[in-house]
Parts: sequence; C-alpha cells; structure tokens
Amino acid sequence: MIKRPKIAIVGAGGNVGAAVAHWAAVKELGELVLIDLKGDVAKGRALDLTQCGPFESFNNNFTAGSDAALMQDADVVVMTAGVPRKPGQSREELVNINAGIVKEICQNVKKFAPNSILIVVSNPLDAMVYVAKQVTGFPRERVIGSAGTLDSARFRTNIALATGASVEDVHAIVLGAHTDKDMVPVVSTACVGGVPLTKMLTAEQLNDVVERTKKGGAELTALIGTSAWLAPGSGTALMVEAIVRNQGRVLPCSVELKGEFGVSDCFVGVPVKLTNKGAEKIYQFELSPAESEAFKKSVAANVELMNITKGFL
Ligand code: LAC
Repeated sequence: MIKRPKIAIVGAGGNVGAAVAHWAAVKELGELVLIDLKGDVAKGRALDLTQCGPFESFNNNFTAGSDAALMQDADVVVMTAGVPRKPGQSREELVNINAGIVKEICQNVKKFAPNSILIVVSNPLDAMVYVAKQVTGFPRERVIGSAGTLDSARFRTNIALATGASVEDVHAIVLGAHTDKDMVPVVSTACVGGVPLTKMLTAEQLNDVVERTKKGGAELTALIGTSAWLAPGSGTALMVEAIVRNQGRVLPCSVELKGEFGVSDCFVGVPVKLTNKGAEKIYQFELSPAESEAFKKSVAANVELMNITKGFL
C-alpha cells in the first residue's frame, strides 16, 4: 500500500501547532495527527480544519486527541508544546517551564516514533532543540529547530518594506540564536534581485531593518498580546514539506554543530539542506567580522541556556 507521510503535531491545540496543521493541510503534506494535552481542543482544531477542505480543495486524513500513542510510527513529529511568551517577556524567560514539557513529550517521541524526524518549535528554541536531542538520543540529522526560517521571512519582509521591492526577489537569511538580543540577520549576503542589499539601503536603513528583524517576535507579541502563529506555522510547514518531499531546500535551522562555523556542542541556527534524511548537510561560509562576532555571542548565549536545561534532564 502506498502511504502518505504521517506528520504528528504535538501542542496542536495551541495557535502555532494549529497553524502548522493549517499550512500542512493546504499543502497536502500527509496524514496529520493533532495531539494536545487538551484532547478535545486538538479534535476541534482538526475538525475545523477538515471543514475547510471543500473550499480549499484539499484532502487530508486527520486524527486528533490527547494520547501520545497517536504519534506511533510518525515520519515527522512537530513539537510546538509549551507556553508562549507574553508582551514584554523574552523567550529565554520560558526556559524553566518549557524544558520540563518538552522533555516529557520527547520521551514519548522516542517511545512511539523512534525513526521520526523531530522538528522543535517550542521556546527558547535552541535550548529546547538541545533538550529534544538529549532526551531522544536521535542523530543530529533528525532533531531540527524551526526559527531561522521564520526570522529570515521577517528579515526578507522588512527588506521588501524598506526597498519597496517584491519580497519574492529578496534573498536573506538570519542565523544564530532565536532571541531578540542575539539573532544574526546576515546583511553581507543579503540581496534583492541579485543586487547586494548594501548597495540599496543606507547604513541607517540597514540598521533599522536589522533591529526590527531581531525584535520581530516581540513586535508581534506586543501587538497581539501573545506570540505570533501564522508565519511561525508557515515556516515550520515549509520545513516539513522540504523533508517529506525530499526537496533539498536550504533553510536556516537550529542544529547541533560539530565543528561547523568553528563551534562544537551547541545548537544554533545555520544554513541546512533539508531532505528526507532531515538536516542532511550544513553549509558553512564566511560571515563579515561583525556578523562573526555576533554569531559567537549567539553561541555563548545558547550555551548558557542549554546549561540551565541540564537541571531538567
Ligand atoms: C516568534 C516565536 C514563535 O518568534 O518564537 O514569533
């Protein structure tokens, strides 16, 4: 029998999990399983989404509930469980509460979906990917953090707004930590229609774009009253798509570095080729001196957060 990929979304009662399900359904990525502690909420989200099928012309099989066993033999597990940040709160402040939640769910991922590729979205992102890797013991190719894709989308959007150019022609990535303080929007390689961004914006405009990008999550949290979900869900579904369709997309993802960019034993955002093996390859390149310095700071900040989570492992 030809099977669709099984994609389990844990925390699917929440906004980000539900948004991953939404975009994954629209793209018909596979058989979706929505899991949440609040089983009825997961079921309701699944039903609501299924009822979009007639309008949006998609066919998806949905299963939903609170039982972790629903993720049995999933090909991809998306972890969105945990509390979102509130206005004025940093992602780092969530570490103590979310580390325990992520740990418990990862024990179930190991038990029920031992061959899955695990995508972590919970915050503080890089430290939660570390927890997931430690608990599951999966090879690094199969534990991947979703944040750089989102941060890069925000960077590209801000560049499009500043230049007035179509966002489709903007190519730009954000590496490093998924924190307001330390993420690294990479200006040196950013371009619009092949033209270096540095030729299109003044130093002041560039600085504004970078600063707005770094605080992109906080800007939305202040406006909405909770963490954003549509773009986080869309970016994560893009990663799932790259994996289940074996596309080889090159997207910034948080993975364990083993010497790449001169860093070892740390989870941080770098350009990754996503295939049906997961994070199949990490691409390295030279950052500008200022970006390199910022990347080092990102690594130090993530190591600090990872060390805090050791108390939960
Ligand atoms: C954000 C959250 C999801 O940046 O981390 O919107």
